[in-house]
Order: sequence, then structure tokens, then C-alpha cells
Amino acid sequence: MFPLLLQLLLFPFIASAASPASPSRSSYGLSYSIDCGGISNFTSDLNRQWLSDRYFTGGAIGTVAEPQHFTQPQERTLRFFPPNSFGKKSCYSIPVPPGRYYLRTFTVYDNYDSKMRNPSFDVSIEGTLVYSWRSPWPEPVARSGAYADLFFPAADGSADLCFYSIATDPPVVASIEIFQIDSLAYDAAIAGSDFVLVNYGRLSCGSALFGPGFTNHSDLFGRVWQSDADFRDPKVKVKALSSGGRKVLGGAHAPNYFPPQLYLTAVTVEQPGVGLEYLLQVDTRLDYMVWFHFAEIDSSINAAGQRVFDILINGKNVASIDIFKAVGGFAAFDWHYIAKNLTTSPLSLKLVPVVGKPVICGLENYAMVPLDLASLPGQASAMRALKESLRIPDRMGWNGDPCAPTTWDAWEGVTCHRTEEGLVITQLNLSSNSLKGELPSGLGQKSLTKLDLSGNQFTGSIPESLGSSDLQLVLLNDNELEGQVPEKLYSVGVHGGVIDLSGNNGLCGVPSLPACPFFWDKRKLSTRGKIAIGLSCGVVISILLLVYVVCIKRGRNDYDFGPPQDLLSSAIASKRNKYQRQKMLLEMESQHSDGYVARVNPH
Ligand SMILES: *[C@@H]1O[C@H](CO)[C@@H](O)[C@H](O)[C@H]1NC(C)=O
Ligand SMILES: *[C@@H]1O[C@H](CO)[C@@H](O)[C@H](O)[C@H]1NC(C)=O
Ligand SMILES: *[C@@H]1O[C@H](CO)[C@@H](O)[C@H](O)[C@H]1NC(C)=O
Ligand SMILES: *[C@@H]1O[C@H](CO)[C@@H](O)[C@H](O)[C@H]1NC(C)=O
Repeated sequence: MFPLLLQLLLFPFIASAASPASPSRSSYGLSYSIDCGGISNFTSDLNRQWLSDRYFTGGAIGTVAEPQHFTQPQERTLRFFPPNSFGKKSCYSIPVPPGRYYLRTFTVYDNYDSKMRNPSFDVSIEGTLVYSWRSPWPEPVARSGAYADLFFPAADGSADLCFYSIATDPPVVASIEIFQIDSLAYDAAIAGSDFVLVNYGRLSCGSALFGPGFTNHSDLFGRVWQSDADFRDPKVKVKALSSGGRKVLGGAHAPNYFPPQLYLTAVTVEQPGVGLEYLLQVDTRLDYMVWFHFAEIDSSINAAGQRVFDILINGKNVASIDIFKAVGGFAAFDWHYIAKNLTTSPLSLKLVPVVGKPVICGLENYAMVPLDLASLPGQASAMRALKESLRIPDRMGWNGDPCAPTTWDAWEGVTCHRTEEGLVITQLNLSSNSLKGELPSGLGQKSLTKLDLSGNQFTGSIPESLGSSDLQLVLLNDNELEGQVPEKLYSVGVHGGVIDLSGNNGLCGVPSLPACPFFWDKRKLSTRGKIAIGLSCGVVISILLLVYVVCIKRGRNDYDFGPPQDLLSSAIASKRNKYQRQKMLLEMESQHSDGYVARVNPH
């Protein structure tokens, strides 16, 4: 089991001198900017609302060692997830309606824990592995942090961003930004619902970095655009072009809303007859979606056929471009291509002149990461209900999808199986975990074959639903379960399976266990039972009164007269159990609120 190792395109940088720009527009739809580890909401210099840390499943907060090294407040605090307290898997589960989203994370170490060791961990979105961080990180990244971004589809009402600890390393995250994008954006017919598009380069040619959060330029989807300078073949001399204040029409429309700024600058070659080449790092196991952005912003080109060039991807001629012919002058033109079966990295993107010099405004390169299988929705929600009901402790890491990503372990104690429709849970083993609580009704999906809940302190009765699943092994021994054992469940043993109910003093009603008191009605006392208890209490009190009166009158040893012992004790026992359950819930709640003590770096 080896996680897909994605090479990150990292842009470690200190957002420097933002260029003046047009005021930022409202975002496309829903957006969140979460300052992980931050304790208060704030508004950034660029007028963006940042939320204090929220939506996480656990972890603790930290501060980078040298805060003065980071210009933005959300870059200075972080959340980390020590696996010994919070399990191997920790998540942020951010409420979002179904749709497609842009996700940008900032990850930093900067020796926040004084251990001089940046951690190894994996990151998934919606159960699909997207980033692998391995120690040691490159020095500039370890010190200054790195942004990474991607587009993903969310179908289930929440965006689950999960972190998997490797060995005992605590994963870290410093900020999370989510922007809703158009559901048809970026060739949705191909990439819409089956892929995560991971950014391996989003470049603006002939300009400095721009985009929301970094400059005042607007981009409805929150995208940030890097300068292309570091990705060009350095041997080729280039010339930057600008529209000279003229508007470029046609970029900012549905479904991609490319920012107008992108088309105002471009790069061309100095020498005629020379090609322009970009080299982008890729992971050859994946396919890539490459977007090219063009605009004819040279007013001396005013007819079709005056500037023509070919696009070569890894040496293969894939298109011939005549911008003016396609859209005219000062108008945006984009073209995209899916590069498959790559054998080498970096990916070479070359513009080869046919007539005049080639020109380009922007480039985007996305790894097409196929969505991993996820747990069937019904099974995932049943497991979340179980987690709630059994108060599964944080250390077991029951966060995000119970089974996905498939390259990682499922939730502790859970075994999953791949089917055509998705992942299903086949085994549940929570034995000897000091767990308390009642087994929820509904426990026992059809796919479940083995259930080992032995050696805990589970209370209440065995849910009827367990009897209707296909269980072959049921170990419920050594708990505090009580009441009627569902007959169908007992038949597991009869039909060659294994069942162990021993060590539960309150279970009854099947062979080898005591008969149930007549008022047990499945899950709880029946009304008949309650009336019986009421009546018997009445009877007991009358009898006690009678005894009292008789004893006073006749002296201590005259009669050996006792109340109906069985009936009395089970009535009292059942009341006591209810009380203890209540008390236990309260104790658990107060234990729960003892949070992990935050660790702040003294530097
Ligand atoms: C921050 O803002 C959110 C959303 O506007 C609000 O619900 C929350 O109470 C605020 N939190 C703090 C700590 O001010
Ligand atoms: C960005 O725009 C906001 C108003 O929209 C303004 O308050 C802020 O000063 C601007 N920041 C920069 C760096 O230009
Ligand atoms: C990629 O490789 C597969 C299998 O090797 C082949 O079937 C497919 O035609 C190739 N696709 C391209 C675009 O070369
Ligand atoms: C459940 O896990 C415990 C501890 O890991 C192990 O001893 C036990 O055999 C497991 N039960 C089953 C049914 O595999």
C-alpha cells in the first residue's frame, strides 16, 4: 500500500509589493477563508474576511518560530494533529452545497514545535489523495511555507480535507480557502465529476504574481496567477508585451471567468524564427489538462495570417494558432488540450513560429487525479451515527470517509471492501477499547460479516437490526448489555457462525441464557412491564407496610416473611441502570471538554 506521490507545484514566496489594481469584486458564490490556528476573525489588508479557526475534527494550535518572516496574519498560525491524541486521520469538514470548488491551502513548518523536523503526511480532498509531504521538505518551503491549489467536486454537503499522519508525524496546515466555481468550468464534460484538477502551474506571462489574497486584482474563482519567468527555457530571449491600457474583451465570462488582467500582458520572443518553450514538472502516472491563453495585444497585427504558430506538446504538433483569425484583435482566446501517456518530466510546451513571432498571455497545467472510490453514502452515514452513539474517542481518528482514500487505512477497527458501486464495510472490530454507550438501532449493514465489540462497557440492549444482516461472527462478550437477544441474531450460531454473548449479566431470552422477565419487550420495558412494576411496587409497599404492622405487633422472629425477591430486584436494577447511564453520559461530556493543551512556540 503506497500512496500516490504527487509532486507539488509549490510557490514558496513572501507576497511582495502588490501592484495597484482594480477593486476586488464579490466572489462567484460561496467562499471561506479560514485562518487555521487563528483565534479571532479579521479583515486582511486586501479587504478580505478571514475566519478564526473552525470546522476541524481535532488537533492543537501552533505559531511559526519567526512570525516577522510572514507578511500575512493567517500564515503565522497553524493547526497540527498529533496522531497519538487525534488518530492517524484528521480533517476539516467545511459545509458547502453540492458543486465544484477551488481549494487553496497554505502549509508551513518554520520549526513551530522546536523539533527541527518537518513532518511527512498525506492530504486528501473528498477521500482522494492529492498531496504527499515528505520530510525533509525543500529548505525554502520548510521555512517560508507553500501554497497549493486545486479544483474539486463536492457532492455530499461538506468538503472533507483530511490529513494522514505518517509514522508519528503531526500533519500541519496554516490556512484554507475555498471558493465556489462554475459547475461547468474547466471542461466539466470531461473533468467535472470524476476528477480533481491539481494545479501544476498557473502562469501569467510577462507579469508579476497576481490574484485574490495576494493583490487587489479580481478573479471570481479565487485563482492566483504566478509569473511565468521561472518556467521558460532561459536560453531564449523574450520580450514582455502589454496592451498599453487598452481593454481586452471576452475573457471574463461563463463558465471559466478568466480574469481580465491575464490578457493585458504577454510574452513573445526577441529574435524572429525562434520558438518559445515552457517546461512544467509533472508526475508521469497522471494525465494533464493544459490551458493556453492568448490575445493579440499588438495593434500592428490587424489581419488574419500575420501571426501564426504551432503548439507542440512533448514535441507533438497538436494545434495551429492564429489569434486574430479566431477572435480578432484585443480579444481573449483560450485553447486546451489533454496530455496523456506521458513518459518524461518536465512536460514541454512549445510555441513554434510559422508566420511572425509566437505570443502567449497565460498557461495552466492541471494533473487530472481520478476521484477515488468512496464509501456508499448510506454506509458512511451509518458509521457517523455509530461514532456519535458510541462516542468513539478522538485517538481512533474516525474522521472523514470511513473507507477512503483506498490507499490509506480505513477508520481504526473498520475493514472495507471494494464493490462496483463504492466501498462497503465488511468488518468492525472495536474489541477492548474501553468504549461505552448504547449500540444504535440500525447497526448491522447488509455487507457486515464480522462484528467484534467484545471487552468494552457497552450498555443497553442489542439492536434488532443486527439480526437482519449477514453476520458470520458476532462477539459481544464482556460488556454490560442487557435484555432480550434478538432471535435472528442468535441463529447466527445455529447456522454455523460464531456468536459469543457471555459476560453480559443482563442478557436473556435465548438458549444458555436465563429466560427474560416477562415484561421485557425488545428494546425497553413494555407498557405492560411498566404497569407490572408499578403494580408490584404497590404490592411490595403494601406488603412492607403489612410486615411493619405485623412485626410491630407480633415481634421480630415470629414470621419469616419476605417480599417477592426476583421481581423487586429487577425493578430496582433497571432503574439504577437508567440512572447510571445518565451519569455516565455526563461524565463523558465533561471528559470530552478537556481539550488538548495548545502549544505555542516561545520564539
Ligand atoms: C467570526 O465570524 C463568523 C461568521 O461571520 C461568526 O459566526 C463567528 O462568531 C465569528 N467568530 C469570532 C471569534 O468572532
Ligand atoms: C485593496 O482594495 C481595498 C478596497 O477595495 C483597499 O481598502 C485596499 O487599501 C487596497 N489594497 C491595496 C494593497 O491596494
Ligand atoms: C495511451 O496508452 C494507452 C494504453 O497504453 C492506449 O490505449 C492509448 O491509445 C494511449 N493514448 C494516447 C493518446 O496515446
Ligand atoms: C479484533 O482485534 C483484536 C485486537 O487487535 C484482536 O485480538 C481480535 O482477534 C480481533 N477480532 C477479530 C474477530 O478479528
